[in-house]
Amino acid sequence: MNEIPRGTLQEQTFYEQVGGEKTFRRLVHRFYQGIAEDPLLRPMYPEDLGPAEERMALFLMQYWGGPRTYSDNRGHPRLRMRHAPFAVDRAAHDAWLRHMKDAVDELELSPAHTAELWRYLTYAAASMVNTEG
Ligand code: HEM
Repeated sequence: MNEIPRGTLQEQTFYEQVGGEKTFRRLVHRFYQGIAEDPLLRPMYPEDLGPAEERMALFLMQYWGGPRTYSDNRGHPRLRMRHAPFAVDRAAHDAWLRHMKDAVDELELSPAHTAELWRYLTYAAASMVNTEG
């Protein structure tokens, strides 16, 4: 019998496949550079973008199979509820995704990884819209 011994085939998470923490930090840092320059979105964010950048990086790392530090610090994500204080209308949605697109493109992941990441981000952004217009 040619059995493959247990433990030799290890499934990698998406987080590991794309390069782990470093990749997510690059993504989110580039995204927040876009936010910093955005006349519509910048006023929604706190004056100091550093902590917001950290929250987003930890959330995405956890979502894709990395460490669970986000929930250790912040509890259950409840993202729709956490966005309730902000008017996320079509324009905000489009601007947010535009900055994410720039950030994703700069990572230069494989086409399959890019597509998977982008599918999630577009789906999540659509689900965050809470205001008409
Ligand atoms: C669609 C347009 C969106 C807008 C305009 C928006 C805006 C904001 C703003 C103003 C904050 C507060 C910043 C802070 O202090 O942390 C925030 C927080 C956050 N957003 Fe969004 N967001 C959008 C979509 C998304 C999506 C699609 C995700 C997830 C994929 C996301 C994940 C987060 C996370 C993880 C936080 C921090 C939550 C916390 O722990 O407090 N956002 N967002």
